[in-house]
Amino acid sequence: MTDIPLIELHLHLEGAAPPAFIRGLAQEKGINLDGVFNEDGSYRFDDFVGFLRTYEAATTVLTGPEEFRRLTLAVLEQSAAQGVIYTEAFVSPNFCGGGDLGAWREYVAAMKEAADQMERDAGIIMRGIVTCIRHEGPDAAKPDALCAAETMGDFITGFGMGGDEAVGVQGDYAYSFDMAREAGLRLTTHAGEWGGAASVWQAVRDLKVERIGHGVQSIEDPALVDHLAEHGIVLEVCPGSNVALGVFPQWSQHPIERLRERGVPITVSTDDPPFFHTELTREYDMLADTFGWDEEVVREVNKTAAKAAFCDAATREKLLKKLEPADV
Ligand code: ADE
Ligand code: ZN
Repeated sequence: MTDIPLIELHLHLEGAAPPAFIRGLAQEKGINLDGVFNEDGSYRFDDFVGFLRTYEAATTVLTGPEEFRRLTLAVLEQSAAQGVIYTEAFVSPNFCGGGDLGAWREYVAAMKEAADQMERDAGIIMRGIVTCIRHEGPDAAKPDALCAAETMGDFITGFGMGGDEAVGVQGDYAYSFDMAREAGLRLTTHAGEWGGAASVWQAVRDLKVERIGHGVQSIEDPALVDHLAEHGIVLEVCPGSNVALGVFPQWSQHPIERLRERGVPITVSTDDPPFFHTELTREYDMLADTFGWDEEVVREVNKTAAKAAFCDAATREKLLKKLEPADV
């Protein structure tokens, strides 16, 4: 476990829900979650599509802003215990009022209340990235982008896309990404997790994102690797997620180190930690064991994350200062 303060840029708020938290809410509300959990209490799924199904079933207990306030507290407590000082959480209006702007404002206020409390009590800073869900289609993404644009501020700072990368192409969602960009939001999208290098090229060219969620399939295309390195396009790499979902069969085959060596800006995140039996410190432990990452690399990677964070300049300076060795 590292003592270096950690910065996480790719965490799905609902996907970070501790299973016990979801079970507790299900009991409170009398909601049946058959099929969501294994006998040992962990989340149950067999493959990526099954994962998305379980994920969405678990969110049915998150019925209102108060549930999202409690979820935000639970997730930030979990992250702060890992030594995380700054986290960006993906949140989708689909699960927060179904794209209705009035309802979404209430959800955002509730999440921000929890985030402000955790910043005061545990020193962890959170920013929200509004996400559309790819398999819901381009039309469903438009109200998500509108929700993002209307609530952009010191808490909601980004717009992105998750979901099933096998559905459509990145460019199908350009209208929503354009709307978000014009509103002043920073942009990222899941690409090159399941889709190949072509999906990453499309994300860069058609959506003009400055960061890529995962992006690990870029390793297939040397010209793309050079492009990412030259243009400083940052990858939000989640190796434990990739191994758990079978994107790569084992850690030793994960391309994170090869991408880093080629000069691609690399950051490390957990994606949906309880689903993948991981935590951010475990990711770094595995990177140390597999690729020999030492403190210098960990500090460098977290500085890359601070520089790429969707936050204001003053917050960024604060994060970078905490990452200086003298401050640790
Ligand atoms: N939503 C939550 N986790 C995801 C992942 N790994 N890929 C795509 N969408 C997601
Ligand atoms: Zn993700």
